[in-house]
Amino acid sequence: MAFTTPAMRHRLGETTRRDGWWINPAAMALTFLVFVVYAAWAAIQSKYYTYGPPGAEHYTYISPFYSPPFQEYFPKVAAFKFFPAFWVVWLPIAFRLTCYYGRKAYYRSIMLSPSACSVGKGAGRGYNGESALPWILNNLHRYFLYLIVVLVIFHWFHFFQAFNFDGRFGMGVGSLVIAADTILLSLYVASCHSVRHLIGGSVDCFSCARAGEARLKAWEGVSWLNQYHNLFFWASLITVGFADLYIRLCAMSIWTDVRFF
Ligand code: FES
Repeated sequence: MAFTTPAMRHRLGETTRRDGWWINPAAMALTFLVFVVYAAWAAIQSKYYTYGPPGAEHYTYISPFYSPPFQEYFPKVAAFKFFPAFWVVWLPIAFRLTCYYGRKAYYRSIMLSPSACSVGKGAGRGYNGESALPWILNNLHRYFLYLIVVLVIFHWFHFFQAFNFDGRFGMGVGSLVIAADTILLSLYVASCHSVRHLIGGSVDCFSCARAGEARLKAWEGVSWLNQYHNLFFWASLITVGFADLYIRLCAMSIWTDVRFF
C-alpha cells in the first residue's frame, strides 16, 4: 500500500534548505551519465581492447570490459567475436543497478525520488517499496553476487598478467591502472551488504554456530569495509571506465604506456 511522506506533499525540488543539497545528486547524475554513455559505446567495439609492448606475441593488458575473454576461450562461437564486451558488461551493470548503494544513488540523482532529505519529490509520486515489477528484480542482487565473484577472479588473473611483458616481469603505468581497478573492484564486492549477510546475517549466536569465531571475525571485517561501500562503488566505477579508456588509447597509439622497468 502506498504511503506519503512530507517530501511527497511538495512540488518536485521544493525545499526550505539553503545549503548546497543539489551538488551531490547532480555530481552523481553526471558521473552516471558519462559512464553509461562511454560503457555503451565501448561495449559495441570489437577491437583496441588489449595492449602489449611493440613486437610482443601476447598482450599484457586487457580491458576489464572484456574479461573474461570469451572470444579467446571459444573462438569457434561466432557470437563471441562480435561485440565481445557485450557478453561481459551486462553482469557488472546488473550488479551495480541492484546494489543497495547504487539504488540510493539513482533514486536520488536520476529519479529525484527524492533528490535529498527534505526536498520535495512531487505530488502523487507515492512509495510502494520494491514489491512489484520492475523494482522487485532488485532482489536478484544476491544471485548476481555469486556471478560477480567469478568475474573478480578473472580480474585478478589479468592483474598478474599486467606485470608480464611477453614472458618477462615488468611494470608500466597500465599495470598500476589495472591493479587499482582490480583492488577497488575487490573491495567494492567484499564490502557488499549481501556478503555481510552471507557471513553472519543468519547467525543469532556466533559462539553457538559452527566455525563461529572465524565467522565473527570475518563478519566484523566485512562490516568495517561496508561503511566505505559508497566510496568503493564510485571509485571502482571510475577506475573500471578509466582502465578501458587507457588500454584503448594505448592500443590505438594515441597514448604511450610508460614503462618503469
Ligand atoms: S550492496 Fe552494493 S554491491 Fe551488494
